[in-house]
Amino acid sequence: MVNGQWQMDNESMNRIVHVNVPQHPYDVVIDVGLLGRAGEVLRTVHGRGGRAVVITDSNVGPLYAEALAASLAKADYACSILTFPAGEASKTLATYGSLMEQLLASTPPIDRRTVIVALGGGVTGDLAGFVAATALRGLSFINIPTTLLADVDSSVGGKTGVDSAAGKNLIGAFHQPRAVLIDPAMLATLPVEQVRNGLAECVKHAVIRDAELLEMISRQAEAILAKDAAVLAELIARNVAIKAGVVAADEREASIRADLNFGHTVGHALEAAGGFGALGHGQAVALGMIAANTIAVGRRLLSRADSETVESVLRKLGLPVRLADLPHLPAQAAEPARLLDLMTRDKKARAGRARFVLATHLGRAAIYDDVTEQEIRAALAAIGAR
Ligand SMILES: NC(=O)c1ccc[n+]([C@@H]2O[C@H](COP(=O)([O-])OP(=O)(O)OC[C@H]3O[C@@H](n4cnc5c(N)ncnc54)[C@H](O)[C@@H]3O)[C@@H](O)[C@H]2O)c1
Ligand SMILES: [Zn+2]
Repeated sequence: MVNGQWQMDNESMNRIVHVNVPQHPYDVVIDVGLLGRAGEVLRTVHGRGGRAVVITDSNVGPLYAEALAASLAKADYACSILTFPAGEASKTLATYGSLMEQLLASTPPIDRRTVIVALGGGVTGDLAGFVAATALRGLSFINIPTTLLADVDSSVGGKTGVDSAAGKNLIGAFHQPRAVLIDPAMLATLPVEQVRNGLAECVKHAVIRDAELLEMISRQAEAILAKDAAVLAELIARNVAIKAGVVAADEREASIRADLNFGHTVGHALEAAGGFGALGHGQAVALGMIAANTIAVGRRLLSRADSETVESVLRKLGLPVRLADLPHLPAQAAEPARLLDLMTRDKKARAGRARFVLATHLGRAAIYDDVTEQEIRAALAAIGAR
């Protein structure tokens, strides 16, 4: 499959992205109103009837679990719903343990044909996917993401797991879903700051793989922020296709998948320096992309005009491009020495050297292990860290 391409299913008119991971390929189905047809889709991938357990969070459950349960019941699934408190603070072994015990104690009892359905953002998908990976040594998993970030990023790739006191996402397993069902209409209730978290990843995909997507995002910025469902469907399909292309080429993350870290070297350092929660992930990645582009322009990999294009798209989307755009950020999040230290200690750093994904022109990127401290300091200065 070519990067950035999806297909239209002629019968259902759904957009479909085929994720061609070895051994367990699956489809991501994208359509406005798909939630109401979830049972139907599940039947085509999993067979008629059986037992389904929906895992959702305390924000998403009250909004969408009933509609999902009704659709599953129509397809003859005996369905139960497990809910956990919304938020990253729930992505722990404790929540995992509690969900697992509820699952194992539920009636009718689960068996190897039981399907776990995640309904929620990235936190829900990671938790429910990890439950599915480990309950009875592996159950079928269906992901129904409800945030833009989960639609375009976390729902594709098969990474599941929870956080540890020692760091984020340190406990987990690869477990591919049997299908991913995306209904862009569910984004109507998503707070716009959360939409922006996903948009930063969309800009990232565009810069590393698809310059035309960057133009589309720029052209449609207003409709996207207004959550126009048809525009979102197109945006999501294109981004899922890019992420699917990357993960299919490199399921367990060696070199190619690392391109997805564009903007994340500085981004992760900003998040860690500020204390998690001081700035949104998308805000951190937006600033990280500006920093990376500064290095790329300095190396004459990227033209100044292209770097300015990226900056103007981020501004249109309401994402920060300078630390001063985040007036409430704690001072320690902007200290260059601290940021540098965090970057060289990051798990992706090699031999104390930060790894950077740099755009070589719009739509293409490569990994660089030789970025000097001086270049990083200049990049941090460019986003206003001093
Ligand atoms: N597995 C992966 O490959 C991967 C990739 C990227 C990120 N992640 C993980 O994803 C998580 C972040 O995901 P997220 O940003 O979706 O966070 P999230 O799941 O916490 O969702 C954000 C907030 O939005 C609420 N929400 C979700 N959908 C809603 C809707 N439709 N309407 C109203 N409210 C809604 C949630 O309840 C939550 O409060 C992190 O834990 C991150 O580590 C995983
Ligand atoms: Zn990210």
